[in-house]
Amino acid sequence: MKYSSIAGTGAYLPERVMANKDFEAMVDTSDEWIRERTGIKRRHIAAEDQTTSDMALEAALKALQMAGVSKEDIDLIIVATTTPDKVFPSTACIVQRRLGVSGFAAFDVHAACAGFIYALDVANRFIKTGGASCVLVIGAETYSRIINWKDRSTCVLFGDGAGAIVLKAADKPGVMSTHIHADGRHEDSLHVPAGISSGYDLVQREEAFIHMKGNEVFRAAVGVLDAIARETLSINGVQPGDIDWLIPHQANLRIISAAAKKLDLPMDRVVVTVDQHANTSSASIPLALDVAVRDGRVQRGDLLLFEAFGAGFTWGSALVRY
Ligand code: COA
Repeated sequence: MKYSSIAGTGAYLPERVMANKDFEAMVDTSDEWIRERTGIKRRHIAAEDQTTSDMALEAALKALQMAGVSKEDIDLIIVATTTPDKVFPSTACIVQRRLGVSGFAAFDVHAACAGFIYALDVANRFIKTGGASCVLVIGAETYSRIINWKDRSTCVLFGDGAGAIVLKAADKPGVMSTHIHADGRHEDSLHVPAGISSGYDLVQREEAFIHMKGNEVFRAAVGVLDAIARETLSINGVQPGDIDWLIPHQANLRIISAAAKKLDLPMDRVVVTVDQHANTSSASIPLALDVAVRDGRVQRGDLLLFEAFGAGFTWGSALVRY
């Protein structure tokens, strides 16, 4: 039986930082409201000419370096993104070309804010079944391009960035289990109505931006994240107290705190980056993981619980021995 294990992590954040105060001149909001309701203080915003593959590539190079893996060793690239550079080719193919390698499979996974967990699930299955042995799993997003900058209820919530891991075949886990779910009935709660087959004309209007029923999303996220955390722990025979670090999708500090509280986990065992990055969708978990690995909080041997919730609705979790 083969297992997969995280060999290295990497991240990239664009240079430009937007503080909450910067929104006060744009919409009817305040630094205080944003901090209190979301926990967000600032976010990084991509430069005008910066794309998702630019950020994905930077994060990937750092992960490869930490893993001590050469790009020639990679035999699969999966990019989780809902904001690809182009309709096609996939961002994963663009990253592959820019790394200067070719031949092996590369594809994108589209599961909104749960995208990284979906990509990790797929990569883990590839490794376990012998289909790959060294996978670049990347979450990268440029949400600033689908934000309606006139809508105060959504524009303050998101940021840009990328995170990556190198997932390698190993004799023992590593990734102990992954769990992914979806419920497509909630399409209207969180969506960007414009799309290719829906018509490019929509892109000219506000339909090309994020539409969200914030309260509905909030309530659903808190409920399913608790259920999936319990599903994950019970399948592995693990108690909440055994978790060294909860590394959740970073959408709202209140959602994160509620998830931790339901598991009886103190906040000093939760990696929080939403204050610095806001919601970077599929990039948020690998970004948070990289921050905590590089600042020394996450150590080899630690037990990590990842959990995420996003549009679809999609949600998922993974229990990982780092
Ligand atoms: N600044 C000031 N006021 C704002 C605001 C902002 N940026 N955004 C919304 N408001 C206002 C609303 O218009 C509303 O005003 P009203 O009472 O006059 O109608 C009031 O604040 C309360 O709005 P409400 O939506 O009930 O606030 P909330 O406490 O639920 O917080 C969110 C709103 C969006 C922060 C919260 O619902 C949330 O985080 N939802 C989940 C979002 C999410 O995680 N999405 C991604 C999932 S991957």
